[in-house]
Amino acid sequence: MVYKINNLQEYQREYAASVENPEAFWAKQAERFQWKKKWDCVLDWNFSEPDVKWFFGGKLNITENCLDRHLLNKGDKIAFYWEPNDSAEARRSITYRELHTEVCKFSNVLKSLGVKKGERICIYMPMIPEVVVAVLACARVGAIHSVVFAGFSASSLSDRINDAKADLVITSDGSFRGNKTIAIKDIVDEALENSPGVKNVVVYKRTSQPVTMKPGRDLWWNELIEKASPEHEAEPVESEDPLFILYTSGSTGKPKGVVHTTAGYMVFAEYSFTNVFQCNEDSIYWSTADIGWITGHSYIVYGPLLAGVTSVLFEGIPTYPNPGRFWDVVDKYRVTHFYTAPTAIRALMACGLEYVTPYKLDSLQVLGSVGEPINEEAWHWYDDHVGKNKCPIVDTWWQTETGGILISPLAGITKTKPSYATLPLPGVQPVIVDSEGNELKGNNVEGNLCIKFPWPSIIRTTYGDHERCRQTYFSTYKNLYFTGDGCRRDEDGYYRILGRVDDVINVSGHRMGTAEVENAINEDETVIESAVVGFPHDIKGQGIYAFVICEDPELDHETVRQSVLATVTRIIGPIAKPDKIQVVRGLPKTRSGKIMRRILRKVAEGDVSNLGDISTLLDPGVVEEIKKGALVPLKG
Ligand code: PRX
Repeated sequence: MVYKINNLQEYQREYAASVENPEAFWAKQAERFQWKKKWDCVLDWNFSEPDVKWFFGGKLNITENCLDRHLLNKGDKIAFYWEPNDSAEARRSITYRELHTEVCKFSNVLKSLGVKKGERICIYMPMIPEVVVAVLACARVGAIHSVVFAGFSASSLSDRINDAKADLVITSDGSFRGNKTIAIKDIVDEALENSPGVKNVVVYKRTSQPVTMKPGRDLWWNELIEKASPEHEAEPVESEDPLFILYTSGSTGKPKGVVHTTAGYMVFAEYSFTNVFQCNEDSIYWSTADIGWITGHSYIVYGPLLAGVTSVLFEGIPTYPNPGRFWDVVDKYRVTHFYTAPTAIRALMACGLEYVTPYKLDSLQVLGSVGEPINEEAWHWYDDHVGKNKCPIVDTWWQTETGGILISPLAGITKTKPSYATLPLPGVQPVIVDSEGNELKGNNVEGNLCIKFPWPSIIRTTYGDHERCRQTYFSTYKNLYFTGDGCRRDEDGYYRILGRVDDVINVSGHRMGTAEVENAINEDETVIESAVVGFPHDIKGQGIYAFVICEDPELDHETVRQSVLATVTRIIGPIAKPDKIQVVRGLPKTRSGKIMRRILRKVAEGDVSNLGDISTLLDPGVVEEIKKGALVPLKG
């Protein structure tokens, strides 16, 4: 067993070994980490409950593996270069030793606030080094972090705090994003009106804007940390103790808290990071994701730190002060490994080459893509203009639930093919099934993507509702983990992800449940009922198309639109705002009251050439009316 795969033959050998004897394979990988107590049993699992345990009986602390383990040889190596939103502001860099000290100090702050092992802590912060410190300090004291993307609304934040029963929130006064300053603490204050269980809020001073500090509840990070000791002994936790909860959208209305546990997640985050990106001692790695998403967890915080790599942490957005910002940052730090989402590539592509050509980009060695299918045009643009045809592109397929990358080229090793995620990582056993769950063997097949054997960072449960985890991922097909994605395996055995087959829309790489958006729209005072579907969008991959029935049919449509947009922003956040809102008098429902979404999808896609059988509709007439009012040109 090798730790870092060097060539295709080695990949094939490792893959075969991982399938033949997964326990021996992963035990070998786990051995290079620091354990407080070695495991008793490598793997125990069944997919029917589901119940998956990796490295059971072991004790460890992941932060010792991210930080303490590196102090002897890499203490003075930069862990993060921090690039602020405004490039004129002083940048910061933080070494592994400094990060260790900050994490120890903040762990002592958490201890002084009475935080105990297993407690949930909500983190709602901008992309500053302190968000990494907060995440790691939670892990160091054995608390479970629940990071909420700081673009979510007060109402979404409050729902997540309540679901996780978090006692403590860590936040900042405000945040800088492009030319906007966002009042983060005000959003937290509003959320806490509906989250009475929160005892303390720790506030990092980032923007110095005025905020209200509630006496007895709210505390300044900057004051607490000044008094904190830099010595902290990491709390030993069990291998299967939860490390974090991360909320994600599904087909049903309420986002669910995906739970990842400690040891298996750690081993897979590091293994996948090391092998997919193939960084070396001198690499400068940059993932443009936000910590609020799984990519931020696995491939900004844990993976790179476990591997002892230097990363760039970026506070800003790709288009501020202009669409050349990414490339400016790449040149400034001599970034070697760059990981972003297709939506960002398409947005920058649309701005024109004049924002790319002024930059050298000669430090780049590997490019990555994540979050949604990358279309061929975007793949080639990325390859030609960013990678200058000399950087392999790793199109990494994975999910919040998988904890780490499952299908992807290994940089420089696997031959790439535009828009293909290519081959599974060692330890990952994908299968493609038809709608009845029959495995489609061989190549040149298309169906639903499942995984038939557990990998170390597989989802363990959905917080507070194990049955929901079973139902969502393990009940569709017996003894298989169902991904929710459609997939094709081509003549070379390469996997191409075709997108979601459930009621989930992937908007700019962010997952939105149609039911979740509908629930938000239905809260609007102008609306009685709504139905939401996805449609192809040039930049976002998929856009949100909402059909709404109004309380007052005479109401001016623009008024309805503005009202719905404001309501969705208030309830979920700006990322869930529909791109198109069509006011309709009725929705195509069957006699049993079910909305026929395929008709709405066809209209939203602009292709009504074949609507299929509509005779079972309660009122087939609504289809004509919907077609007439469509907000896209219709074919057929
Ligand atoms: O549909 C797939 C798509 O994103 C979904 C997972 O979303 P999320 O949990 O938010 O995680 C995103 C970051 C890992 C998947 O079910 N997806 C993710 N990566 C790819 C992808 N679709 C195609 N190609 C990818 N590389």
